[in-house]
Amino acid sequence: MADKGEGVYVPPDHIRENSHVSSIEQYHKMYKESVENPEAFWGKIAHDFYWKTQCTGKFWEYNYDVRQGDIFIKWMEGATTNVCYNCLDHNIDKGLGDSVAFYWEGNYPGDASQITYNQLLKEVCKCANVLINKGVKKGDRVAIYMPMIVELVVAMLACARIGAVHSIVFGGFSADSLAGRILDSKSSVLITADGVYRGEKLLNLKEISDTAIQECLEAGFTVSSCIVVRHLGESREPGAGGDTEHHPPKRPCIKLQTNWHNDRDCWWHDLMADASDQFEPVWLDAEDPLFMLYTSGSTGKPKGVLHTQAGYMLYAATTTKYVFDYKPGEVYWCTADIGWITGHSYITYGPMLNGATSVIFEGMPIWPDAGRMWEIVDKYKVSKFYTAPTAIRTLMKFGEDYVKKHSRKSLKVLGTVGEPINPEAWLWYYNVIGDKRCCIVDTYWQTETGGHVLTPLPGATPAKPGSATLPFFGQVPAVVNENGEELDGPCEGYLVLKQPWPGQMRTVYGDHQRFERTYFQKFPGYYCTGDGCTRDKDGYYWITGRTDDMMNVSGHLLSTAEIESALIEHSAVAEAAVVAYPHSIKGECVYCFVTLKEGKMFNDALVGELKVKVRQKIGPIAVPEYIQNAPGLPKTRSGKIMRRVLRKIAKNQQDLGDVSTMADSSVVEVLFQNRPKNV
Ligand code: WTA
Repeated sequence: MADKGEGVYVPPDHIRENSHVSSIEQYHKMYKESVENPEAFWGKIAHDFYWKTQCTGKFWEYNYDVRQGDIFIKWMEGATTNVCYNCLDHNIDKGLGDSVAFYWEGNYPGDASQITYNQLLKEVCKCANVLINKGVKKGDRVAIYMPMIVELVVAMLACARIGAVHSIVFGGFSADSLAGRILDSKSSVLITADGVYRGEKLLNLKEISDTAIQECLEAGFTVSSCIVVRHLGESREPGAGGDTEHHPPKRPCIKLQTNWHNDRDCWWHDLMADASDQFEPVWLDAEDPLFMLYTSGSTGKPKGVLHTQAGYMLYAATTTKYVFDYKPGEVYWCTADIGWITGHSYITYGPMLNGATSVIFEGMPIWPDAGRMWEIVDKYKVSKFYTAPTAIRTLMKFGEDYVKKHSRKSLKVLGTVGEPINPEAWLWYYNVIGDKRCCIVDTYWQTETGGHVLTPLPGATPAKPGSATLPFFGQVPAVVNENGEELDGPCEGYLVLKQPWPGQMRTVYGDHQRFERTYFQKFPGYYCTGDGCTRDKDGYYWITGRTDDMMNVSGHLLSTAEIESALIEHSAVAEAAVVAYPHSIKGECVYCFVTLKEGKMFNDALVGELKVKVRQKIGPIAVPEYIQNAPGLPKTRSGKIMRRVLRKIAKNQQDLGDVSTMADSSVVEVLFQNRPKNV
């Protein structure tokens, strides 16, 4: 295993020679302009896009310092555009109409389809008309709870075309989570599907949607329309799209049992059949909202991260072009779900704004077997591939044979995102998947940043396994200590960003104060990422993980507070504390300490019930790996739970550090004894 900092991997000549940025000197030159003269840098990039009216006011303007007044970030004042127009019509005008926008690859091998830019434009226009007919107007929020199917992209682009704000909820979230997001965003239209198979597991999305809509109703909010895509339903030809000779398993054609509410529910295909395929885009101001997307908050309630038009468009497009070194004609594949920011920026917007041909994959990396991803890579000749460390670690477990069975010759750039990648996984990605001839790009960024913040560029940046390397264009990172003082040279501390970039979030939907509090209060004058990092002698950044009460399970940020409040809802639980625990595949997993009410018994049945509770309240991704009985929790004299101590107990590390502030240290002994047998 290579230790941190060991080994530098320079871009191979065959990639460097044809790349957009082909030397580290060229990167430094472009970087310098991007941070010293953002107007010139982004202004040039903006020329490649369609603007109904040009920027007339300030190109950029901001206040990052709460002491100077309200925080705000604005780009390209006065410009009007439409992001959907730039994704579709503008590319079609450039001659890309007959190019494939997406190859859709279903859960079942052989269940596949494709759609060109021309065809996609027609579908999007029809859907825009459908939404208008449902009363959706510019600025209205539309909730989307869908599997990874082309209709999901159609729905999001249709929102963008009419200026509605899409709020996509990941298909793995529970009815409670969906309801919470619909309520917070006040989305009166929900778009969903009947159901989806992930591997052999069936998810009845319509049923979950019904439960969520009912919960909203009980909270006093009415979802007036629920539009349902028939993805599994009985109208489809049985086994349609199946390539039976090579691939026996086929998408089952089933009618899912759901209640149909005639006044509210409608089939997508019925509405689309009657809709016109023409729709003039609504021209929007640079700072009108484009979409919102919920991310975990350290206080428990998810935050609706709001992104706007012009800046997000420039940033998603530019990062896609440079970080994946995307060139026309190449096939690109990001394995994320569109329900996460990675899918928004690097399945839909970024690639489409580059006129790219991409793969959308509905299934899972290890089903029917662990070679599925490489089979798809070969099928479509994918050259740029983007996935998460947790997927790489899962595949490592299955060994090299599944990889070697497939050629993977087309691959050039291999990206990773979502959590720190450990050097072993990095090296396996490089040596085994990439056959030592591809570039690895470890991209560090957040829902809030809209696009990459720290990342290598394939043709330019020498990579070090485990480091997200250097800032992308426009990013000015700094490392500060607890007092907010900037550190020089090699150092360790909090990662902050010093100046805005076009793709930055603008506010927390409906709660601007929370935006200011969360990101700008701890270190006035800086955007605080919430991540810790070190910087080495070459100026490379190494992310060490969250510095707040969040954890990262398989690349998904979870809030300890949100899981705790789910546990406390169980009638037997008096108090709960949740910490992150290392996990060989997921990176981190959920470890819970629960204090029971008087007279309640801690046993396997209760552990099972608590897991169900978390699954219901949040979703399967948050289900605890370990739950232990905690007759007492270590607390400070002021009553604050000492999570630092709990993390040590979870890991069975006896050296607890300074415990002088602990109110009652006798609880610790009991907790060590009560550690679950299976940890
Ligand atoms: C973590 C995902 C290390 C980090 C795009 C960040 C990473 C959080 C990396 C954002 C990486 C993401 N190396 N850590 N390459 N990428 N993270 O909002 O803690 O789901 O703050 O956005 O994931 O997660 P989010």
